[in-house]
Amino acid sequence: MVSRVGELASGVVEQMAAMARAAQAHAYAPASRFRVGAAVLSDDGRLFAGCNVENASYGLTICAERAAVCAAVAVGVRALRAVVVVTDLLDPARPCGACRQVLAEFGPAMHVVLLGTGNSQVATSLDRLLPEPFTFHSLP
Ligand code: THU
Repeated sequence: MVSRVGELASGVVEQMAAMARAAQAHAYAPASRFRVGAAVLSDDGRLFAGCNVENASYGLTICAERAAVCAAVAVGVRALRAVVVVTDLLDPARPCGACRQVLAEFGPAMHVVLLGTGNSQVATSLDRLLPEPFTFHSLP
């Protein structure tokens, strides 16, 4: 079992949701028209946002979650405590498998909060969404 990441400070999820919504407004999604925003919280309390960036060569699309992770890693972050993902679906969308694996690299038990446009909010953890990520760490 992966170690827990502790409770989130009050107000941080709201702050992350606002950042994710701001990034979502910049989503580049000419192919799908499906806009996604994400925000991640580093272990030292910094926040980073990302949006999906599509491409004419569809397979090159970058999801919002991975864009947020890359923004954090680019300034030296190596441990994440939480991710918030927003879409314009009524019910919160779940992160794709590729993003779960990439998030797990930096916080296998991080808090995950998923928001749609309706009232329901999904609050879970990455080890529930991806119980057994690929890792080198368990190798002898
Ligand atoms: N997308 C994300 O940004 N995150 C996910 O977890 C799944 C899907 C994006 C990729 C693409 O631009 C659009 O949503 C439709 O698949």
